[in-house]
Amino acid sequence: MRRNIVAANWKMNGSRELVESLVGGVKAGVAKLDKDVEVVIIPPSLYLADVEKAVSGSALQLGVQNVARWESGAYTGEVSAQMASDVGCAYALVGHSERRQLFAEDDVQVAEKVRLILASGLVAIICVGETLEEREAGQAEQVVARQIRAALADVSGEGWKKIVIAYEPVWAIGTGKTATAVDAQNMHANMRGLLSELGAPAQEISLLYGGSVKPDNAAELFAQADIDGGLIGGASLVSDDFVRICGAV
Ligand code: G3P
Repeated sequence: MRRNIVAANWKMNGSRELVESLVGGVKAGVAKLDKDVEVVIIPPSLYLADVEKAVSGSALQLGVQNVARWESGAYTGEVSAQMASDVGCAYALVGHSERRQLFAEDDVQVAEKVRLILASGLVAIICVGETLEEREAGQAEQVVARQIRAALADVSGEGWKKIVIAYEPVWAIGTGKTATAVDAQNMHANMRGLLSELGAPAQEISLLYGGSVKPDNAAELFAQADIDGGLIGGASLVSDDFVRICGAV
């Protein structure tokens, strides 16, 4: 069966002080949960070592928010998938809408990054989702399918075991608006159908929902048949809220 996963995407937030207080709280809170859930902390890269130290002795996993689309070399400011693996990450986000919108990351680049992430032994959490404009134009399914097809173009065989997909409608990110549980479930069911079409072991691939997930809406979202957890932004910066979300799977 597929894994339940709740991942904390801190985005460009945090400090050493926050690492200590937040991760300490999450570690203690998650240890008390009687749930089968993989909890992943995805801080800014500069704090990976601090977070690694803070999570030691627990089951909490580490992830990186972005990797370069090159293996190594003269790419000032970039961090490779191999480096993320080297410093203890098990997961890498790729194709987050903020990367697509603010850094012009396109489907081709996302596919290149997925290839490097898998080659480094990391699990790729591939983010997909439509904008409000695309949703209002009735193109949500089409956009998400295009993003998934492109990102998975080179994935096959054992690679499928290292794929997680997060559906994050852009209009729900950081806005307090969340997709209804039914709408999110419908999209997730479509995504699973597409994965089957692509020859993937669709029933084994975890599909996460992201976009204004909070302690009071998480349980309803996670109860849906094809939603296997969440990718959490704002609420992952408050330890009690994040632990409650982890407990909602
Ligand atoms: O990657 C998580 C994300 O974009 C959702 O952010 O703040 O709406 O939970 P937020």
